[in-house]
Amino acid sequence: MSAMAPNDRARAVTTTGLRSMKEAARPIVMVTAYDTPSARLADEAGVDVILVGDSLGMVVLGHASTLPVTIDDMVRHTAAVARAHTSALVVADMPFMTFQISAEEALRAAGRLLAEGGAAAVKLEGGTRVAPVVERLAGAGVPVMGHVGLTPQSVHQLGGYRVQAKDDAGAEALVADCLALQEAGAFAVVLECIPAPLAARVTATLDIPTIGIGAGPACDGQVQVFHDLLGLGGDFVPRHARRYADVGAVVRDAIAAYADEVRDGTFAPGPREEA
Ligand code: KIV
Repeated sequence: MSAMAPNDRARAVTTTGLRSMKEAARPIVMVTAYDTPSARLADEAGVDVILVGDSLGMVVLGHASTLPVTIDDMVRHTAAVARAHTSALVVADMPFMTFQISAEEALRAAGRLLAEGGAAAVKLEGGTRVAPVVERLAGAGVPVMGHVGLTPQSVHQLGGYRVQAKDDAGAEALVADCLALQEAGAFAVVLECIPAPLAARVTATLDIPTIGIGAGPACDGQVQVFHDLLGLGGDFVPRHARRYADVGAVVRDAIAAYADEVRDGTFAPGPREEA
């Protein structure tokens, strides 16, 4: 894909625009970002949606899961992304336990992500059980993206990060979850780590777009984690990820070259002369 400057887009991507993309069979490109420079780069590359995912906790903050991520973490990093003034739609994750306790708490947390963070929409994990909250948020003017299948905030309940809805009962429950989210007013839904034929069925059944990660090629769009795409997450590449560059190695080599020059007394500021 060629890079696209932000201004090349006719206008900013909107939640309703994503529905039009599904109708026009134009694949939706979503990537995570957690700060201003990475959001700017993703926008310059022409992505449609930037997700300030709570994967923040694992790929940036060094936690072992997404559970410790707080609403303050999410507001701070969402605001950093919003300061990139992207044409891409900015969606912010609702952290663990900000939407499960009550619809009022969910409204307060989502309100902060939009008003203080500058997000255009929020994403939250769960299906039928969170549909009433999605309805309250959507009713208050907060666009909501759903997230079903492997929902990392439920890692302990799921018994690990593994493919979901593999049997008939699981598949039927997942379809019901997606329909409940659509009925409640969600504008799109992430399908994470489910069998590709099931993702194809859900995509054909729903009017709202599906965005897949580890869910096969038939989804209306795909999402990847910034650090996985770029080789910034160490040697481990999740099975649902694809690495397009080894930026980690480039960074390591550049810092090592700087360190060598400092140590041998040749370091000087300014453009570096190529050998
Ligand atoms: O937090 C995140 O990055 C996500 C995506 C993997 C969908 O939820």
